[in-house]
Amino acid sequence: MDRVKIDLTPVQGTMLATLYARALDSRTPHPILGDRTAEEVVDRIDYDWRRTGTRAPWDAAMLALRARQLDRWTGEFLSAHPRATVLHLACGLDTRVHRLAPEPSVRWLDVDYPEVVDLRRRLLPPPAGDYRMLGASVTDEDWLEQAPADRPVVAIFEGLTMYLHEEQLRQLIQRICGRFPSGQLLFDCFSKRLVRWSRAWGRMGGSLREVTQSWHWGLDDPRELEGWHAGLSYVDDLYVVDQPDLDRLPTAARLGLWLTARVPGGHDSGRVLRYRFQTLP
Ligand SMILES: C[S@@+](CC[C@H](N)C(=O)[O-])C[C@H]1O[C@@H](n2cnc3c(N)ncnc32)[C@H](O)[C@@H]1O
Repeated sequence: MDRVKIDLTPVQGTMLATLYARALDSRTPHPILGDRTAEEVVDRIDYDWRRTGTRAPWDAAMLALRARQLDRWTGEFLSAHPRATVLHLACGLDTRVHRLAPEPSVRWLDVDYPEVVDLRRRLLPPPAGDYRMLGASVTDEDWLEQAPADRPVVAIFEGLTMYLHEEQLRQLIQRICGRFPSGQLLFDCFSKRLVRWSRAWGRMGGSLREVTQSWHWGLDDPRELEGWHAGLSYVDDLYVVDQPDLDRLPTAARLGLWLTARVPGGHDSGRVLRYRFQTLP
């Protein structure tokens, strides 16, 4: 079978790094996610994977840990709301819907740029159930109208917030909270310092220049977002280096995470967050 060639913008192409990380994790003796489909998809793409910059064992571990935590929170939400809508934004080639295999009562919408959705169609098996893909920029105003507003929603966006300007993210969150009766937002973010330092490093010609120049938004105080919409409240968060069962990781990955947690700014550099919202009377 011919391997698929890639023609994406630098920001769209970042989903290759997360895909490759999940494939690398899957190849370890004790995978965190065990995403075999990611491995198969990597083999079907004609690409020099070294360009992703994902090489070290802790890169794969950190990205897999982040994905696993978002899977867990999504699973908890769907257990409590079996007739929910899932908005999986900036889905890339992530197999979250395959990993979670939701009940047929769940409505699932995977959203990313049209070019990325086109690749998804070509490379990933169609999941069972009430599933749709939508090609759009999440910063556009009208795509959300294609998601019926009749159910509680869980909106998951992994690896997206850093690529948005604050005003774009604020409007996105306000549109979601304004449309659905209640729900949760599950996402990851970088610290303000990591965004600032990475941009400066990129300007000096550092690695992954094009990607880091596209990073705009970071967060230090999760309560900041509560001011963005009445009814939006912070539930909890978890730094990636504080995730449970790190002791099960291979030694190199454990060491990398241990060091990350101890360099200045390292511990707080990346985390996953959970918010809830409801329409106030
Ligand atoms: C780092 S990748 C993460 C992909 C996926 N969530 C994962 O974990 O594998 C970032 C993704 O965000 C998508 N993205 C960035 N800005 C977007 C926008 N404005 N609208 C839709 N997708 C966007 C990119 O196309 C890319 O697929």
